[in-house]
Amino acid sequence: MNAPITNANPKAILITGATGGIGGALAIAYAANGITLYLQGRDQAKLASLQARCEALGARVEIAALDVTNRVAFDEWLGKLCQTTPPDLVIPAAGINISAMGNGAPDDAAQGGSHFVGEKWAEVDALIEINIRAVMATVDHVLPIMRARGHGQIALFSSLAAYYGLPVTPSYCASKAAIKAYGEALRGGLSGQGIWVNVIMPGFVESYMCNEMAGPKPFMWSPEKAAIAIKDGLKNNRARISFPFPLNLGCWFLAVLPAAVSARLVKWFDYSA
Ligand SMILES: NC(=O)c1ccc[n+]([C@@H]2O[C@H](COP(=O)([O-])OP(=O)(O)OC[C@H]3O[C@@H](n4cnc5c(N)ncnc54)[C@H](OP(=O)(O)O)[C@@H]3O)[C@@H](O)[C@H]2O)c1
Repeated sequence: MNAPITNANPKAILITGATGGIGGALAIAYAANGITLYLQGRDQAKLASLQARCEALGARVEIAALDVTNRVAFDEWLGKLCQTTPPDLVIPAAGINISAMGNGAPDDAAQGGSHFVGEKWAEVDALIEINIRAVMATVDHVLPIMRARGHGQIALFSSLAAYYGLPVTPSYCASKAAIKAYGEALRGGLSGQGIWVNVIMPGFVESYMCNEMAGPKPFMWSPEKAAIAIKDGLKNNRARISFPFPLNLGCWFLAVLPAAVSARLVKWFDYSA
């Protein structure tokens, strides 16, 4: 007999950013007989290859190659799948990072390409659109259906970078702090309605985004290891799924220490300009 659909036993799972390191590993981790996966990314070839791997594991897979900043296409896709088999678990993992550090241009190169030059507004604007607005738009789409059904789970990607603003990447830290607060607030608000909301706060996980980021990357995890920890945390409805432990503790301290001390520590660890 099939196990009933509960939050701890989702059957339809939506993952945005499935072509990325963590999103892809999550898709594989959830792929199994009886599971429907809705996978979104921009890279059609990567999506098709991920679809084949997940189908080989027994999952039914629908892919969508689209840009989440194309709000019309994104809304249409979400609307359509919500009408057919609405997702029980929603994981908006699509995200980008941008850097405030020099990029090797002549004036940057003179200083080793590693000094603070600030962020370009066009990039900040895109980051806000992808990391915050598209995530909230996804929640806005799926929440009414989850409420009507009295169950569902929403897993939001924040980051340990949400605990304290790192000068190397100000807007990214701000976006992840926004999602952390949003997720915590939704979790409190929806706790009595059968809907679980979880905030995921990874440290460094091997991926395109992580590789591009300036500064040291201690305690880096593989996407596969991260996916196992995330899946386990979601199954147990942990409010905050943060890892790895040493970096989690260190970043948490940055948030609670006096700001002047945290700023010194960040500089000391080379995340400053
Ligand atoms: N890796 C880390 O160390 C780390 C740490 C903390 C938090 N996180 C968070 O974890 C999540 C996954 O990150 P990751 O490490 O897996 O990054 P990644 O490998 O760089 O993947 C990013 C994903 O986002 C998608 N994406 C980016 N812009 C998009 C857009 N405009 N429209 C649609 N899709 C878009 C990419 O699609 P295409 O490749 O197809 O363009 C890709 O699937 C992100 O929210 C990130 O902030 C990561």
